[in-house]
Amino acid sequence: MPPLPLMPPGRPTTQPDTPYELTASAAPARQIATDLDGANAEAGPATVGVMAYRACSPLHIDIGGSSMTTAEQAVITGRTIVAVSERLVLTRPQEDDAEAMFAIHGDPETNRYNPYGPQRDIAQAREQLAGFVADWPRDGVGYCAVSTREEPEVIIGVAGLFLHSLDGEPVFNLYYRFRPSAWGKGYAAEACRAAMAEALPRFPGIPVTALIREDNLPSRRLAGRLGLVADPDGRVDHEDRLIHRMA
Ligand SMILES: CC(C)(COP(=O)(O)OP(=O)(O)OC[C@H]1O[C@@H](n2cnc3c(N)ncnc32)[C@H](O)[C@@H]1OP(=O)(O)O)[C@@H](O)C(=O)NCCC(=O)NCCS
Repeated sequence: MPPLPLMPPGRPTTQPDTPYELTASAAPARQIATDLDGANAEAGPATVGVMAYRACSPLHIDIGGSSMTTAEQAVITGRTIVAVSERLVLTRPQEDDAEAMFAIHGDPETNRYNPYGPQRDIAQAREQLAGFVADWPRDGVGYCAVSTREEPEVIIGVAGLFLHSLDGEPVFNLYYRFRPSAWGKGYAAEACRAAMAEALPRFPGIPVTALIREDNLPSRRLAGRLGLVADPDGRVDHEDRLIHRMA
């Protein structure tokens, strides 16, 4: 059996030479985009605003067209919100999400089409999660923990964009994996749309791609709903996954 990949192929395994500076900030939500402008892999050191929303804040968070009430904010105090949609809230992954991440990535059902199968133990989940966490300060973009606004303390899935290189071209990898209990509700599509609406204007010209096994029909249906199409020449990556691309 081949070794289990802890990171999606293409994910950098080394940290950048120059450390990025993280500064705490209580800037309004919309400030996120401004703070992160230009903070991508090539941009070099960047100062990234990190927000911890406070329960006592009288402000409503308004990102991606939806606003959160103060009561909703109270439950997710301490997490960095990336986007809010009609039913969902997307936050940056954090180290203490390992159990929730393992519940998703260690489930055989969510890995039916993953040639390497589910994660074996929480150590693997922690290692993968460390990569997810590190992407944000380095690239200013990454995968998100997804919760419903009704139960923001429960992570139901992961969705978002990873900046990497595909055949030498800088591209976003669109990723989504949700607990089976969250399937069939349109959550994955809603989360991906919210993640793309938040990130793509900050990275003009970077195409969105997705690597999907030909027989993973639920994933391919979702990619299609989001506007991605399979490569017309049937191009695949080194894992034999069809390269889908935003039309
Ligand atoms: C891929 C995956 C995220 C798709 O989940 P999903 O819930 O089917 O996707 P969507 O969010 O687009 O939801 C669409 C479904 O919700 C239904 N739905 C119910 N309420 C809805 C609503 N309010 N809005 C939109 N769709 C709704 C749709 O009818 C559709 O069901 P159908 O496909 O049976 O017709 C999920 O199967 C998964 O996590 N799989 C395992 C991981 C994986 O394979 N990831 C991809 C690796 S390449």
